[in-house]
Amino acid sequence: MNSETNPSQSHSSPVLDYIRQLHREYSSLKDGKVATYIPELAKANPDLFGICLATTSGSVYEAGDSRQPFTIQSISKPLVYGLALEDHGRAHVLTRVGMEPTGDAFNSISLDPETGRPRNPMINAGAIATAGLVLGKTPQIRLRRVLETLGAYAGSELALDEAVYRSESETGHRNRAIGHMLRNFSMLTEDPNPVVELYFQQCSISVTCRDLGIMAATLANRGVNPVTGKQALRGEYVESVLSVMGSCGMYDYAGEWIYKVGMPAKSGVAGGVIAVLPGQLGIGVFSPPLDPHGNSVRGIRVCDELSRSLDLHLFNLPNPGHSLIRLRFTGAELNSSRVRTPLESQALHQFGSRINVYQLQGHLVFASTEVLVRDVIENLDSTDYLLLDFRRVLSLNESACHLLYSLLIKFSNLKKTLLFIHADRTPLLRRFMKAKLRHECETLFRVFEDHDPALEWCENRLLEVVLPQTVAERRASPSEYELFSGFTAEDLSTVCGLLQRRIYQRGETIINVGEEANHLFFLARGCVSVLVTLSSGVRKRLATFSPGMAFGEMAIIDHAPRSAMVQADTEVECDLLGLKELTQMGQSEPGIKIKLLENLSLGLCRKLRKANREMMVLD
Ligand code: DON
Repeated sequence: MNSETNPSQSHSSPVLDYIRQLHREYSSLKDGKVATYIPELAKANPDLFGICLATTSGSVYEAGDSRQPFTIQSISKPLVYGLALEDHGRAHVLTRVGMEPTGDAFNSISLDPETGRPRNPMINAGAIATAGLVLGKTPQIRLRRVLETLGAYAGSELALDEAVYRSESETGHRNRAIGHMLRNFSMLTEDPNPVVELYFQQCSISVTCRDLGIMAATLANRGVNPVTGKQALRGEYVESVLSVMGSCGMYDYAGEWIYKVGMPAKSGVAGGVIAVLPGQLGIGVFSPPLDPHGNSVRGIRVCDELSRSLDLHLFNLPNPGHSLIRLRFTGAELNSSRVRTPLESQALHQFGSRINVYQLQGHLVFASTEVLVRDVIENLDSTDYLLLDFRRVLSLNESACHLLYSLLIKFSNLKKTLLFIHADRTPLLRRFMKAKLRHECETLFRVFEDHDPALEWCENRLLEVVLPQTVAERRASPSEYELFSGFTAEDLSTVCGLLQRRIYQRGETIINVGEEANHLFFLARGCVSVLVTLSSGVRKRLATFSPGMAFGEMAIIDHAPRSAMVQADTEVECDLLGLKELTQMGQSEPGIKIKLLENLSLGLCRKLRKANREMMVLD
């Protein structure tokens, strides 16, 4: 009994507890017979029994004899079929092997009467034709490629079980006959013997039940091994491999299997079974005793039980539609971290509803993206700026790309703006837009790395329209400093006497984290941003100030070291007021300090109210 997930973990996971309980439950099932037509397989111990469940997030749960080696046999067929698809593409492979279930046994000589093409790659005839498609100048190179491919699925280096290989090669007359039949119909274009030998070798590769679980999870994870992160099969071919596993993988039991268990699967005559739930998990079971169909008896029962109790049936998936839109808000409800003047805030409150932001999550497939597009279209007349945030998107497919492209063209034709945020998480979308938009891609497919600068960009564009004077070029005089609001000319003259004017270059750090706080800063020209570094190392913008605003003011109250970095976004002119001078002025001119502190408190109230409003939107 072992759980690889976290051996040092003192509490076993409920998943592991369940896998162990299943193992205890089916260990007593003694039905079925060990395969004997390959003499070496007849030596198998019928009591061996292992279960492995591996998830697409890389967790691996094992119970029983999950590390006991045995030969992979027919479970190699879908994996080698994937290799043949990568080597030749679908069109050519389909000229050599079909995709139709036969309803016959695995070793039936089932060829298309006209073409001689085997019906599917899961029966021996189809698997031998597939082995004939594996590229490589020599039989050794072809075998090495098969071993490497299956090793990538398992996440470990695999080797041949020479004894089983020899045993099968010495007794595999029926498969040799099939090989010659295929040569006769030109489904094999060269001497069939080395091809049939390669087929015997692929079937004789030694694996464990743990390997099977991870191989199945690799197929569930669009061809990427969830434990090693290595690509074992190009994503575009996974659907073809899973399709033939779903329709043909369990031979003349395939119909009952897909009806009851509902997952693409493949069994092997040495007692292995794999089952795949796309996007979620893979299951591997090992138990030598077989039923009349040549499938492991315990393997079938365990998969059936897992499917019913964990609700794994493929055709019983939740509706993805309603969960795609995690959050929707407008530029009137939630603003960027660019601190706005009261006039600008009032304008955004009034006109910000023309900016619509959608935070998306999960998988963008046709149904979920249709819900998004329908919602956008219903609000199109009141939208000038649409921001789609992909930060929490897990995957998207081609149909989603089509819908987003059509939406982009619609926005462009209506002279409206559509921005894509965190599109780095959806490389397929970028490739799709590049292919469709060609030279217009740069101008139309506008991508931002984070929603905050994108929202600010839209706010600035909107303010340029609704407010006469744009922000950046504005220069503020001390009388316009927010913290000096309500100061008399005399007050201003007093405090201006204490100010020191400094100029900072674009990108220059004005305040560093942890520094002692000695000054209060008033922004006369340019913009500065307050930045913190997250535990992930990513730098996050907390706020951006523009002329007339103050920063570093919290030190007046708590005299604590600086808690964030302040950087000049443009060339900046600041007036600095020393906290020592402010304290002295407070003794000589307490009225001025009180007014300043009042303005400071008013500013903090405005920020708190804005934060409350935003918390309500984000909840
Ligand atoms: O060709 C054979 O007969 C074996 N190497 C593989 C057959 C097999 O695994 C059938 N699966 N249930």
